[in-house]
Amino acid sequence: MKGFLFDLDGVIVDTAKYHYIAWKRVGQQLGFELTHEHNEQLKGVSRVDSLERIIAWAGADCNAEEKQRLLVEKNEDYLRQIENMDTDEILEGVEEVLLYANKNNISVALGSASKNGTRILEKLGLTHYFQAIIDGNHVTRSKPDPEVFLKGAAALGLDPKDCIVFEDAAAGIEAAQKAGMKTIGMGGSPELAAADYCFDSMKKISPAFIETL
Ligand code: BG6
Ligand code: MG
Repeated sequence: MKGFLFDLDGVIVDTAKYHYIAWKRVGQQLGFELTHEHNEQLKGVSRVDSLERIIAWAGADCNAEEKQRLLVEKNEDYLRQIENMDTDEILEGVEEVLLYANKNNISVALGSASKNGTRILEKLGLTHYFQAIIDGNHVTRSKPDPEVFLKGAAALGLDPKDCIVFEDAAAGIEAAQKAGMKTIGMGGSPELAAADYCFDSMKKISPAFIETL
């Protein structure tokens, strides 16, 4: 393997809990109680598409202006929550895998749906490990479309078949497979069974395993 493509939310850092709180408040404005089960279905889904799903679940009717207001409010709420995020929030084992890649000539890119990707990597002090950052600001189509990962491989100058994707969302595994890449499902959710390999924690990904890829 010549390239590692990392999803961000749920792979590098557990931001789902902050997205959940912010979307729950949006739901309440629409008279709808968002649950953890709903939140699971929002993993890997872009901000705009997440709002569309919540509006549909709520059976609400929002015009373009209201949608725009809710999107801005949701992101401001989310950014307030992650304001003090620091290196303590990096998920276990992540930095070791990044370091291994950097030391062993494996290129590293971010492939995230989030428009806050660059900001979050900076807060976590991880930016220097990445040779390319492709996030929600660089793509027009959401996962499960392969665009984000194909752009990641292209930015690294690599053939997709030489890249492996670390993902915690079913939509992300599908996107990577459509891109012709190998996949590692992170987090242990049964929805990731389609991945080539599954791990509940990055801590369990050893150099010996990486060498077999
Ligand atoms: C994905 C998350 O990585 O990014 C989703 O799994 C989130 O929950 C999406 O909605 C967009 O993130 P942001 O930061 O642009 O609102
Ligand atoms: Mg994710």
